[in-house]
Amino acid sequence: MQNDPVWTEATLTATRDLTPDIRLLEIAPVGGALAWDPGSHIDLAVDLNGRLDRRSYSLVGTADPAVYRIAVKRVAASRGGSSWLHGLLPGQRLQVSAPRNRFPLQHGAASYLLIAGGIGITPLLGMAEALLQRGADFRLLYAVRSRRDLAFADMLTTRLGDRLGLFVSDEANRMDLMREVAVLPAHADIYFCGPSRMLAGLQDVLAQLDRSSSSLRFETFGSGGLQPNEPFWVKVPRLGIEIAVPENSTMLDALEAAGVEVMSECRRGECGLCAVDVVAVEGGIDHRDVFLSEQQKRENHRLCACVSRAVHGGLVIDTAWRADQ
Ligand code: FES
Repeated sequence: MQNDPVWTEATLTATRDLTPDIRLLEIAPVGGALAWDPGSHIDLAVDLNGRLDRRSYSLVGTADPAVYRIAVKRVAASRGGSSWLHGLLPGQRLQVSAPRNRFPLQHGAASYLLIAGGIGITPLLGMAEALLQRGADFRLLYAVRSRRDLAFADMLTTRLGDRLGLFVSDEANRMDLMREVAVLPAHADIYFCGPSRMLAGLQDVLAQLDRSSSSLRFETFGSGGLQPNEPFWVKVPRLGIEIAVPENSTMLDALEAAGVEVMSECRRGECGLCAVDVVAVEGGIDHRDVFLSEQQKRENHRLCACVSRAVHGGLVIDTAWRADQ
C-alpha cells in the first residue's frame, strides 16, 4: 500500500559517468521540469524483469526548467533498479513523479554542517549551493571509501574552497565525526545523507557531546545490516499466509507480492510506516532501520519490513494494516 505518485511521461536525454559506478542521468519530463528546492527527490518507475517498481532519487544541483538531474550508483547487490537505470540509453521513455521534499533546508540557523557519506552527496550539492549564495556559515564534509567513489569533487573544490572537507577512508583519511561536531557552534544545524550505520555513529556522537538531536536532519540509504542477506520465511497467521523472502528481496516487497497490504512510504527505514508486529522469532532479527529506538530493537516486538530481515530462520508477524480499518 505505497503512497503512489502521479506519473508524468519523460525522456532520458543524456547520461554521463561521474565515477565507475555513478552515472548522471538527465530526464526531460513532458511539459518541462517543475521547480524544486534543495533536498527534493523524484520517483522513477523502474522495470524489474517485467515488474514495475518505484525508486526515489535526490535531485542534483539546482533547479533547471528543462530537465531533472539525478545521480545513480550501481549497486550489485541491490534489487535491480540501479542496474536497470545504468543500462538505459538516451531516448528511453520513462515515468517520473513531481519533485517532493522530505529533507528541506531550513533557513535561519547560525551555522550549518553538511555531512555526506558516498552517494549521499546528491541532496547536499543543492544545499551547499543555496547556502553559498546566501552567504551562510557552513561546511560540507564528504566521505567515501576510495577515491574512485568521489563524484563532483572537482566542482565542489572549485565552488566551496576551504568550506569543503574530503575524506577517503582507504587512504587513511577518515572523517572524525567527534572532532567535527565538537567544534560546531552551539546553534548549528546538521544535515546528513549517507548510510544508516554512519548516521548511527553521528547520533552516538551527538549523544556523547550532549547536543540536541533536534539540530540533526537526515536521509539515509543502503540500509546494510550487521548480517549478510539470506532467505527467510514469514508467517502471517491472521491471513493464513506463509511466504519465503529471497536473499535479494525485501520483506516488504515479498509481502506485497503475496498480496499482503502493508503501509509504506520511504521504503528505506526512516518513516516507520511499514513497521509490523513481531509475534515470534526463529533465529534473530537484523534491524536495519533508523526509526525504531535501540530499546525497541532489543525488544524485537516490531520491525520495519522495508529494510530489516530475519537471520537463521523466520518470523511470525502481524501487519499494522487491517482490511476492516
Ligand atoms: S516504509 Fe518507511 S520505514 Fe519502511
